[in-house]
Amino acid sequence: MELNTEEFITEKVNEIVTAVGNGIAINALSGGVDSSVVTMLGHRALGKKLRTVFIQNGLMREGEPEMVKSVFHKLDIAIEIIDAQKEFLAALKGVTDPEKKREAITQIFYKKVFGRIVRESEAKFLLQGTILTDVDETVAGIKRQHNVFAQLGIDPQEAFGYQIIEPLIQLRKDGVRVVGKALGLPEEVFTRIPFPGPALAARIIGEVTEERLQTVRKATAVTERMLSGKGAFQYMAILHEDRVTGMREDRRDFGQQIEIRCWDSVDARTATPTKLPFGVLQKLAVNIIQEVPGIVSVTYNITTKPPSTIEAV
Ligand code: XMP
Repeated sequence: MELNTEEFITEKVNEIVTAVGNGIAINALSGGVDSSVVTMLGHRALGKKLRTVFIQNGLMREGEPEMVKSVFHKLDIAIEIIDAQKEFLAALKGVTDPEKKREAITQIFYKKVFGRIVRESEAKFLLQGTILTDVDETVAGIKRQHNVFAQLGIDPQEAFGYQIIEPLIQLRKDGVRVVGKALGLPEEVFTRIPFPGPALAARIIGEVTEERLQTVRKATAVTERMLSGKGAFQYMAILHEDRVTGMREDRRDFGQQIEIRCWDSVDARTATPTKLPFGVLQKLAVNIIQEVPGIVSVTYNITTKPPSTIEAV
């Protein structure tokens, strides 16, 4: 689709104004590109009638709530941080199947946490940053993206008690970035690497526990620090479930494994592993082993998407 950015913005702002009318709307900002762009669009359309919340679900990367709050404070947009860590962890307890994990996150997010916020605020609309890639893969039955409903025959009004407005549904990631730039988002936000809605839970194979979240969060911080600025589309650390024999301080250690994925892609539909210099990979392994307790093995994915997917869960 040829994108005329200004026309697109005007059209979407009008659509939001018409849909919401005199009511109130809410949007959840995760700090990712899509929800940041929706926050900007929504505020342009609704001003103070849009309440923007950041749900601290305990699955976020290091320092995210602070970073998001400070970026949007500079743009004069107030962000409310809502602590729902206990609810998310409880919903994920004992869940190991990838689709069940996604479903648990969907339910706790849309039904419980958002349902409550919407009831308390009397908002009737949720603005959210679903993009075309999310829809494609869900409809194709590859992955149930956490934020796709209508295309699966689910009516959010019936299921959760509010309507969902999706201004970015025609766009892919490259288009979203262009719109974000035009709306005045800072470069570090509109060029940010994609991050999935289910957050670090999409990067833990097996059960999501507080301890395992801490491990993948630390590994993610090291990976992002070392692979940023290399021109890759997306990069991540994945915590595996099975353990391998390793050694630490001359003793046998049946430890955990981290898999690094780093992707070249334009729109996430297909992707190839970035040809990172071997020295960079070696340094990454050394830093992960030093900084993340319990890890004895670091591997690099060399499979393309398809048949792989970008995230592991
Ligand atoms: P996959 O893993 O399906 O990812 O190849 C394609 C792109 O989408 C992101 N992703 C998600 N985004 N909700 C989202 O909002 C999700 O449930 C989800 N799962 C994957 C992923 O990071 C990649 O950029």
